[in-house]
Amino acid sequence: MLVALTGAGISAESGVPTFRGEEGLWKRYDPSRLATPEAFQRDPKTVWEWYAWRREVIAKAEPNEAHRTLADLEREKGLWVITQNVDGLHQRAGSKKVIELHGNIWRVRCLSCGARFYDRRVPLKEIPPRCGKCGGLLRPDVVWFGEPLPEDALRKAYDLSARAEVFLVIGTSATVYPAAELPLIAKRSGAKVIEINPEETPLTPFADLSIRKGASEGLREVVGDLI
Ligand code: APR
Ligand code: ZN
Repeated sequence: MLVALTGAGISAESGVPTFRGEEGLWKRYDPSRLATPEAFQRDPKTVWEWYAWRREVIAKAEPNEAHRTLADLEREKGLWVITQNVDGLHQRAGSKKVIELHGNIWRVRCLSCGARFYDRRVPLKEIPPRCGKCGGLLRPDVVWFGEPLPEDALRKAYDLSARAEVFLVIGTSATVYPAAELPLIAKRSGAKVIEINPEETPLTPFADLSIRKGASEGLREVVGDLI
């Protein structure tokens, strides 16, 4: 069983900013003001302006070679992608077996009637957007700091990690839990853990192989051994 855990770094080559590191979003913005339920409660307009901007950036992005390689590995070897990303680029590259641990920026949820649906409008005309059904306030259907991850996604991710023979970890700072625990579960269950990241992370010492390269170039190095 081949499994890949991906983070913002795999979409960096598509022009989607990462959160940490030199150019990271958390260098310019305060996550406690933009990515928590309290922030949204206090100021939904500002939170939505930030998400509307991120949606516009992501709408212009194309899947890159790394996304496409993982889609090829799904077709050839049944690879599962467990992603922390909300950009939907794995699916646009052709991956179907994708577990979104942190939700999807293109999906919204109504705080009044609970309706949950894809809203791909770019740019968003009305900010904050309202529910067409009940007029309630919509929120991005993503996981904010302090919120629980979708139960079924997390359960499936734990199960796949425990059954993986090879566990790729691509483009994540391996600092946000519970996602950061998955490679350690795979390692404990006997998987070969391969990390691809231009920088070292807290996971690096546990990896069987840690490739200090970008996602596309790093995958080129190992894909031959995986097919
Ligand atoms: N290829 C591979 N990795 C890269 C590349 C690249 N071209 N460019 C940067 N990276 C690496 C960085 O070295 C860093 O380790 O990608 C990682 C990105 O780390 P983060 O920005 O912390 O992103 P991520 O690990 O996905 O964050 C986890 O934190 O803010 C929350 O919910 C958000 O899902 C996100 C979670
Ligand atoms: Zn509603």
